[in-house]
Amino acid sequence: MESNQRYTITSALPYTNGPIHIGHLAGAYIPADIFARFKRLSGNDVVYICGSDEHGVAISIKAKSENKTPKEIIDKYHKTIKDSFESFGISFDNYSRTSLPIHHKTASEFFIDLEKKNALEIKSSSQLFDPKENQFLADRFVEGTCPNCGYQHAYGDQCENCGSSLSPTDLINPKSKLSGEKPIKKETTHWFLPLGNYEKFLTEWIIKGKKNKWKANVYGQVKSWVDLGLESRAITRDLDWGISVPHKNGKGKVLYVWFDAPIGYISSTKEWAEKNGKKWEPYWKDSKTKLIHFIGKDNIVFHSIIFPIILKAKGDYILPENVPANEFLNLEGEKISTSKNWAIWLHEYLIDFPDMQDSLRYTLTVNAPETKDNDFTWKDFQARNNNELVAILGNFINRVLVLTHKYYNGVVPNEINKDNEDRDILNEVFEYPDIISKSLDKFKFRDGINSLINLARLGNKYLAEKEPWKLIKQNQDLRVSEIMFISLQICAMLAVLSEPFLPKSSEKIYGIMNLKKIKWNEIEKNKYLISPNEVVNAPELIFRKIEDDEIEKQLKKLKKN
Ligand code: MF3
Ligand code: ZN
Repeated sequence: MESNQRYTITSALPYTNGPIHIGHLAGAYIPADIFARFKRLSGNDVVYICGSDEHGVAISIKAKSENKTPKEIIDKYHKTIKDSFESFGISFDNYSRTSLPIHHKTASEFFIDLEKKNALEIKSSSQLFDPKENQFLADRFVEGTCPNCGYQHAYGDQCENCGSSLSPTDLINPKSKLSGEKPIKKETTHWFLPLGNYEKFLTEWIIKGKKNKWKANVYGQVKSWVDLGLESRAITRDLDWGISVPHKNGKGKVLYVWFDAPIGYISSTKEWAEKNGKKWEPYWKDSKTKLIHFIGKDNIVFHSIIFPIILKAKGDYILPENVPANEFLNLEGEKISTSKNWAIWLHEYLIDFPDMQDSLRYTLTVNAPETKDNDFTWKDFQARNNNELVAILGNFINRVLVLTHKYYNGVVPNEINKDNEDRDILNEVFEYPDIISKSLDKFKFRDGINSLINLARLGNKYLAEKEPWKLIKQNQDLRVSEIMFISLQICAMLAVLSEPFLPKSSEKIYGIMNLKKIKWNEIEKNKYLISPNEVVNAPELIFRKIEDDEIEKQLKKLKKN
């Protein structure tokens, strides 16, 4: 198991123009959190970084629609989003905001430095302009038909239907989101990042270097981009909300949100380092550090092409080791949609299912859209919770603790009388840390969590076969103590191995068993996780059953939208 490795782990900075839903959680936050916890637990030096993405047109539009200032919008949603992450146990080492001075300074320095290095082009081009509002229509200020797939509500920067990245001038039948008018074209000057200059670099670094290391969906997207040829991309905009372009000719212009936001990972690391008396540079500049970006598939080009090019142009920064992007999660067979309110919002889930964060974490991990889009249904959520968390994992732990209290008043019995089969079981149990690590190292979170449940299955099967409740009546006390001792090892192993996936439940099991924190890289065969004469507490409920009417209520609520 890998330890003593430095990791910089990031999750996409969420736009602060609304709350977050299960699609976000499944795409970029749960897998990253599992990975960060796993790497910490196995003795690595981890910084897990995120923050609110508070610039961009999406914020301005939201502010306009709610008759508020952008600042009011970002303050409101920053808080909602941050609270949701905390409640779901997303273990960021730092959650920052791109509106903070430290970020404005860092992003501006990047721009100034690239400009100084002649890494930027200045070009005049004609852009969409709303004459009624007297404003250029960047990115999401304009909507129209996607030239690639024909979807009629594509944004000026991206089509949410086919995932392609667009320029406002690519749209067929563009329409201003401000006035609803058809825009005109007007000349304006911007700074561009000449992506084409980096084709050789990308070919060497990704096309040749990452072929069997990156997920096929990510590698495939990057390759097709590079094969098509890369054009220069504007990194400034004519807008009033954002980071002012630090240049004498930059009046009325701001940095493009996709230029500043990924730099937010660096600013957030700086903020963390300042707060904790650490240095940030090793996490971004030491070539031995592994940088991993967790994102949804709509962010792939920014993290595997554009941001690496920015880092490369800046020099002396490391490049991502991996970008394990997920596909999309659908809901009850339909695309999740904010505008149609077809979503499960985390802050609402937490009201209806308080204390059931792990049930959602579980379902979203077992069903993670790892290699293809996947579907969340309320019925499946209920079935997973009741048939797997309650009936397999919770049930095993409960049975073992009940029996330990009944037979031994909670005192862990002595191991005395192992037979061959017991030895095999124990060996098998102690292979699980490696089995799960191997899956997580490959970003196979579904396999990892399935293995965890398999370990609980193994425990249930062992108990069912050995039937200690029969043996105790036959006065086979030594045999019973051996069986209980082994079952308690399995419980302890479940506490240890569930931590990255189900942190709250893991903590509960740790608490009930009176266990001290056990690191994964310190687990050794023949070194028991819980020893004879230690005392375990009385069992408590770890998971609860979800009733049909709770699910009906959610389905009704969803369909009402
Ligand atoms: N805010 C973007 C989104 O929600 C993600 C930004 S990721 C970062 O799609 F790299 F720019 F930070
Ligand atoms: Zn499209």
